[in-house]
Amino acid sequence: MAVIAVVGGQWGDEGKGKVVDLLAERADMVVRFSGGDNAGHTVVNPYGEFTLHLIPSGIFYPRVTCIIGNGVAINPAVLLTEMQELQKHGIDTGRLFISDRAHLIMPYHTLLDELEEERRSKGAIGTTRKGIGPVFADKVARVGIRAGDLLDKDMFRNRLRAALEFKNTVLTKAYEVSPLSLEEIYDQYCRYGQQLAPLIRDTTSTVREAVTTGHSVLLEGAQGALLDPDFGTYPYVTSSSPLAGAGCIGAGLGPREIDRVMGVFKAYNSRVGAGPMPTELKDEVGNFIREKAREYGATTGRPRRCGWFDAVAGRFSVQINGLSDIALTHLDIYDGFPSIKVCTAYRFNDEVLTSFPSDAAVLEECQPVYEELDGWQQSIGETREFDRLPTEARDYMSRLEDLLSCPIGLVSVGPDRKQIVPVKWISPWE
Ligand code: GDP
Ligand code: IMO
Ligand code: MG
Repeated sequence: MAVIAVVGGQWGDEGKGKVVDLLAERADMVVRFSGGDNAGHTVVNPYGEFTLHLIPSGIFYPRVTCIIGNGVAINPAVLLTEMQELQKHGIDTGRLFISDRAHLIMPYHTLLDELEEERRSKGAIGTTRKGIGPVFADKVARVGIRAGDLLDKDMFRNRLRAALEFKNTVLTKAYEVSPLSLEEIYDQYCRYGQQLAPLIRDTTSTVREAVTTGHSVLLEGAQGALLDPDFGTYPYVTSSSPLAGAGCIGAGLGPREIDRVMGVFKAYNSRVGAGPMPTELKDEVGNFIREKAREYGATTGRPRRCGWFDAVAGRFSVQINGLSDIALTHLDIYDGFPSIKVCTAYRFNDEVLTSFPSDAAVLEECQPVYEELDGWQQSIGETREFDRLPTEARDYMSRLEDLLSCPIGLVSVGPDRKQIVPVKWISPWE
């Protein structure tokens, strides 16, 4: 019985959906704690293949209560579509609840995200255009609208009117586009409110009840550590924290209540959107990884930038998340590689850096220092035991553990729930 956080260790898309779907088999509750529908978590299990943007990846187990926590920004239209999609496949969404404190993505958030990206032009961040920056900006500016507001129509109307008045001034004066209609948004969101009302509650007490009665809780992160607004490659980051620490705030727990923090890492690196990525391969190796691993954004379909594993960034991620162990995914993608490189340091002008720089402009200039390891010439997708993995694959993992100072608990050798090999695995649920 424990509280386990599962977080992305790199720039997102590490395979968090797969790992949560796997671990949720023995959990009682899964709580998404940050981000919004910028996330795309792929799950491949006996029900089929699904991309979840908001609903926790534990939804496939009838006994698991799923919570969209207060730290998540919810686009109600996306949530309702996602629920319908699951229901069409026979998956019960009756145990899904959303926090009354979760902020709502409004039509002006997605519009402003798009307009800002266009305005930045060459300096664009490459956001998912889902309204994430604007909704979290409104949250901290104290002008946001929360899920609970939908339960009181008069209050909702007042808040919407106040917010929209200013948004329309910005839209018409700064961006020179048409204003949005109060009536249209109000009617549409009242309809969403009616549909979502049975799900909206004070989930903090639901989570508290689960923890105090000794139930097993998974905290599902979104994005990855290097997209954190504080520690990531600012300003090329997202707008809510993907770190384990945010698991407390985004679910309503205290720091001492998280028992274990599992970081999900790919065996290589990928990134979607703009910003520095020292190990990016703009050559046939990078293209080969992208095609073999189908590295196209689960949310936007954009091609992901691919490159060798960056252990400098990885070590930083282990530290800022306080990771207990790692789930290493996509090891199968390296099948047949004659050799594999790992970045162990950066060269910056005449210096050798072994810690992750805070300045994106510095990182942009960093040249990776590589160590080369032997590859393996067999396919590992069907392997289920650590001892049966090729020696070179085991050596690669052992080197990553040394470089990251963190044990690898599990290794994933394919997208399916079954394609998993325990390494130094201690079940969190015993
Ligand atoms: P998330 O955002 O961290 O949940 O990751 P995504 O779902 O965006 O991207 C991970 C992609 O890799 C998905 O298409 C998964 O089905 C797939 N995947 C997950 N683990 C593995 C693995 O070990 N090997 C391979 N080949 N694919 C994997
Ligand atoms: P999951 O949970 C990968 C990236 C965007 C962009 C930056 C800011 O599936 O790992 P935003 O829309 O958040 O304002 O965009 O962050 N980004 C992700 N990249 N996986 C994600 O989520 C991401 N969510 C946001 O591409 O570079
Ligand atoms: Mg993803």
